[in-house]
Amino acid sequence: MTPPRGVLPLPESFGWREGGLAVEGKSLSDLAERFGTPLYVTSEGRIRSNARRLRTAFRSRWPAHRVLYAVKANSNPAIVRLLRDEGCGADCSSPSEIRIARSAGVPATEILYTAAYPSEEELGGALDAGVAINLDDPDLLPRLLRIGHPTTLSFRLNPGRTDAGPEGLRFAGRGSKFGASLPRALKGYREARAAGITELGLHTMPGSNVLSAEHFGRVGAFLGKAVRAVRRVTGQTPRFADAGGGLGVPYRSTERPLDLDDAAARLTTALRREGEPTDGLELWNEPGRYLVADSTVLICRVTHVKEGSPPIVGTDAGMQTLLRPALYGAYHEIYPVAGYGKGPGRAVTLTGPICENTDILGRGRRLPSLAPGDLLAVGTAGAYGFSMASQYNTRPRPAEVLVGSRGARVIRTRETYDDLLRSVPAREMGVVAE
Ligand code: LLP
Repeated sequence: MTPPRGVLPLPESFGWREGGLAVEGKSLSDLAERFGTPLYVTSEGRIRSNARRLRTAFRSRWPAHRVLYAVKANSNPAIVRLLRDEGCGADCSSPSEIRIARSAGVPATEILYTAAYPSEEELGGALDAGVAINLDDPDLLPRLLRIGHPTTLSFRLNPGRTDAGPEGLRFAGRGSKFGASLPRALKGYREARAAGITELGLHTMPGSNVLSAEHFGRVGAFLGKAVRAVRRVTGQTPRFADAGGGLGVPYRSTERPLDLDDAAARLTTALRREGEPTDGLELWNEPGRYLVADSTVLICRVTHVKEGSPPIVGTDAGMQTLLRPALYGAYHEIYPVAGYGKGPGRAVTLTGPICENTDILGRGRRLPSLAPGDLLAVGTAGAYGFSMASQYNTRPRPAEVLVGSRGARVIRTRETYDDLLRSVPAREMGVVAE
């Protein structure tokens, strides 16, 4: 069975089987029966093939290449372990992400800690963990050095305005909260060198979900120029240039996928050209979305259909389960799990159970006629899906299931009422009136 025109083709590992959606041969309806909804279902195979494709694209062009998985995209320890098994290090943005990466077997030397506006306590924790530290501002350096000396240090550079990627996902330019301009950062490199730190790196992260390969050429050129400038002030080639994340994936059928080989070719060519001589320079990438986004669907169940114009279909997954549509107006494809066989379909608005008018999963979606109990699958939900889920409206967060070589297994259980109140002291709980 094939979905109608205009619907995003499913990534490998997903498919239509016996009239319904399946992942790695397991029917999504069966998984929903077994584990309940809403449910995040992830394909191990798809994560592995994303990781291999990425590694090959870069390593073939830059042998001293390293992939650091951006743990914030999905910090489930099973996923981090899987990516470690594929050879990834970790890009961490909080003390807990460092702990998760370490317990997934990532050595401290393959972890980069990039915190925006970290407290001294957090900086101290990163120093104790022995990870490489990426500072957002050179003025943080004296504060860091009062606590201790990192072995490996980099600065996050703001390359100036970028038009790449969706508007809410641009992190560079004037007024952005991230990074330092190159001239400003050079002061930090001088001070770091004077303080005896020899393993220095460069980092930039101008935007996320970028589908144009040209953008990565610009990132490579910027990093190359920065490598030369840092060499000028420190007298040595930095150990690594980290191009951040940003590799995009298509969320809708009208989007052309990123040409990964072209992006890798442009990035590495520009870095070599502008950063010469680059012998000994490692190239790092910190992808989150590219590795996990299309590995996962979110299964939800229709709770009610309110007739009207347009009809509004309620589901048990809302902005508390998947925040991206409400927060960024992000588009996610929505598939009927039982297939497209039930008539011509009509355009509906999909919403969740949250008391906010922005709790919308999608508008104008042409779907077959739906009734309470029917299942829907929200596509491309693996990056910034569960990791941005909340307990808003005092709703337990969903379960996560990983489907792969060991069958389908729960990698995070569904929260319960007790979980919601775990941090409330018992004395504050009152007595249930029976
Ligand atoms: N490195 C750093 C320092 C980052 O801040 C990020 C993402 C990444 C790597 C990974 O970027 P990626 O490869 O995923 O583009 N919540 C948004 C995305 C925010 C990304 C924040 N930083 C979303 O739902 O699309």
